[in-house]
Amino acid sequence: MKICCIGAGYVGGPTMSIMANKCKDIQITVVDLDEKKIAAWNSNELPVFEPELLEKVQKARGRNLFFSTDIDKELMEADIIFISVNTPTKTYGVGAGKASDLTYVENCARRIGEVARKAKIIVEKSTIPVRTAESIRKIFLANGYGDRFQVLSNPEFLAEGTAVKDLEEPDRVLIGGEESEEGRKAVEVLAGIYEQWVPGGKILKTNLWSAELSKLAANAFLAQRISSINAISALCEVTGADVGEVARVIGMDSRIGSKFLNASVGFGGSCFQKDILNLVYLCEYYGVYEVAKYWEQVLLMNEYQRERFSGKIVSSLFDTITGKRIAVYGFAFKKDTNDTRGSSAISVCKHLLEEKAHLAIYDPKVSLQQINKDLEIEEEKIIYCKNAYEAADGAHAVIILTEWDEFKGLDFKKIYKSMLKPAFIFDGRRILNHENLVKIGFEVYSIGRGKKSRY
Ligand code: NAD
Ligand code: UGA
Repeated sequence: MKICCIGAGYVGGPTMSIMANKCKDIQITVVDLDEKKIAAWNSNELPVFEPELLEKVQKARGRNLFFSTDIDKELMEADIIFISVNTPTKTYGVGAGKASDLTYVENCARRIGEVARKAKIIVEKSTIPVRTAESIRKIFLANGYGDRFQVLSNPEFLAEGTAVKDLEEPDRVLIGGEESEEGRKAVEVLAGIYEQWVPGGKILKTNLWSAELSKLAANAFLAQRISSINAISALCEVTGADVGEVARVIGMDSRIGSKFLNASVGFGGSCFQKDILNLVYLCEYYGVYEVAKYWEQVLLMNEYQRERFSGKIVSSLFDTITGKRIAVYGFAFKKDTNDTRGSSAISVCKHLLEEKAHLAIYDPKVSLQQINKDLEIEEEKIIYCKNAYEAADGAHAVIILTEWDEFKGLDFKKIYKSMLKPAFIFDGRRILNHENLVKIGFEVYSIGRGKKSRY
């Protein structure tokens, strides 16, 4: 059997690498229009940083895992085609700012139709609005090659930073198919592949629309938990409660559960915001306006949390940060990834730059080029640092924006000595020992705990 995956990004690359390791009898080729990306997948400098991924790629590459730009050839030869291309928020026209831009998915469907001759299963791996499979089928039918293709929905639930583990031991695999004999057969073929390493009970089979909608709903529920605990964090700060303690108490209720209750400077990433906007758009499209407003509030709370954090920095530093050096620890949207898409660090840094602060930024995996691109600035506007100590040297404040483990082990006495006084720390991830920092002499502000200081 041959598989082709269109899209060698954060999902296509890792997903197919794990599948190739688990199913040695299947030949898998990941294709992309981006030549540089494919060259990187063929090297030892992968375009995606994920713990353990390089070893997995090295084991399978050249054996039954290939990366190529020869898209048409692979589309022609494959028995199963995964569409794993980007589906960003539309920036123009109808639905701008909310709906998903399906241009890339549609381009794939058209190309498949043009070049593929034998019967195939087409799998939607990208996150897409409910009923997209219908549009894909319509493109196939209208062009006269409909009957040869079965469209399945197989959304991906991996989280960045833990992609390898999530793919090797998923909570569940979801496969949606058409309610016809052909549809059911196609679902069984795909389920058979996953069964090579996922227990059968974890493979859920639904209709197409449930599968498409479940992906959006799952992300919306996860993001909603973060906004809920972030809402409580604001109340903690003004009442003297500690959001860590509150989260522990509510998380021990087995009906609620303890995960995704870490208050933070706001969730980032390429998907939560995009997928909730998409959900909101769908609700409005189908006329369920109250439901749209309900989910929109999750995003408004996230924005509020980011603004609250940067506002706290300005007000604590005596209402002006003009010309002040501020050390920024972390720029990625979470630890263990080089991905900055949607990172709260982008919003916070932009606020601080508007206030004319001098930002000294350190992130273990994010490049200067990426930071400049995200902040839409020229090279000289920020100070890019090689380590956390260099960033703090001569700074008025240190702010933690990503929860990288190495920040917990820093020598904060050394950092304190090198900073201007009073020396402030703003912990947007709640990862430091605040009592120790206060003992050293820092003024500490933490999300969900408020201010701690000697004075
Ligand atoms: P990405 O931007 O990292 O990768 C998409 C790739 O598709 C790009 O390399 C692009 O060049 C390529 N591409 C676009 N059109 C193409 C075409 N016509 N032919 C060949 N290649 C083409 O995106 P991603 O983060 O991998 O996300 C892909 C999809 O998976 C999105 O719908 C996203 O919502 C969903 N998803 C992402 C994650 C995640 O953690 N990033 C998790 C689950 C689901
Ligand atoms: C998320 C989902 O967890 C995946 O299941 C899904 O497949 C993926 O989106 C997607 O569709 O793209 P991801 O965005 O990679 O995965 O990472 P998460 O671990 O969900 O973190 C998202 C953001 O929320 C990060 O900024 C993280 O720091 C933040 N977060 C997470 C919190 O602020 N608090 C928490 O308790 C958990």
